[in-house]
Amino acid sequence: MSTSAPHRQVTPSEVLARKGGTPLVCLTAYTTPIARLVDAQCDIVLVGDSVGMVLHGLPSTLGVTMDMMILHGQAVARGVSRALMVVDMPFGSYEESPQQAFRNAARLMAETGAGAVKLEGGVAMADTIRFLNARSIPVMGHVGLTPQAINTLGGYKVQGRGADADRVLADARAVADAGAFSVVLEKVPATLADRITAQVAVPTIGIGASVGCDGQILVVDDMLGLFTAFQPKFVKRYGELGHSAAEAIAAYADEVRARRFPAAEHVFTDTPKAPPA
Ligand code: KIV
Repeated sequence: MSTSAPHRQVTPSEVLARKGGTPLVCLTAYTTPIARLVDAQCDIVLVGDSVGMVLHGLPSTLGVTMDMMILHGQAVARGVSRALMVVDMPFGSYEESPQQAFRNAARLMAETGAGAVKLEGGVAMADTIRFLNARSIPVMGHVGLTPQAINTLGGYKVQGRGADADRVLADARAVADAGAFSVVLEKVPATLADRITAQVAVPTIGIGASVGCDGQILVVDDMLGLFTAFQPKFVKRYGELGHSAAEAIAAYADEVRARRFPAAEHVFTDTPKAPPA
């Protein structure tokens, strides 16, 4: 019998209990191998609808479907054993009514094994969050810049500057009061993020927000330097894997054209190697 403690997955209540504590470390993942790497270091792995732009080349997150989220959620679940896995609800899957949101959230959780869902919106989504929470679906909120709303927000603009701060604060409050176990603050001024963090009872997870948030999240392909189509100011590149991959592919192409690959060690002889005596 093993004497080591079994792996236990982080729960939404444990995330909630981290309010004001050691910052929560969160990243997105969309595939099994990256999920394994993220799981080893993070408290939360988010299967973000950013998958549409990052892996599928879509111009925004609006074209992401339930089927895409389920497929990537299942792939990520195979690589996660410790972190809390959260799956994004895609555009159009929850806004119509709390009942529609429940149906799709339950499907996302049942078919992927996720421990929670994330949805975008503040005051307008509070009743839906309350409805889901009362029916055993833990919800992570997302306010400030909500990329599914770029057509009404007028693009990927900073939210909550000047007199607009109270609107974003009210959104964060509504989400927390409705029972979300945490709330993502995206692209809001640092002073506002700090105010919200001080005033809401649930952990704030910043992306383009403030170092004072209760946690931070980035899109993994952004911070690894794999997604380089554009780079928001809030992304710090911790790696340059895109450059490494381009160099490796160029080296392969050169060697194939020069007939230097495959070399003797990569091809098979006519007779099998004798097994060791
Ligand atoms: O879809 C996503 O990746 C997100 C995070 C960046 C918060 O919502």
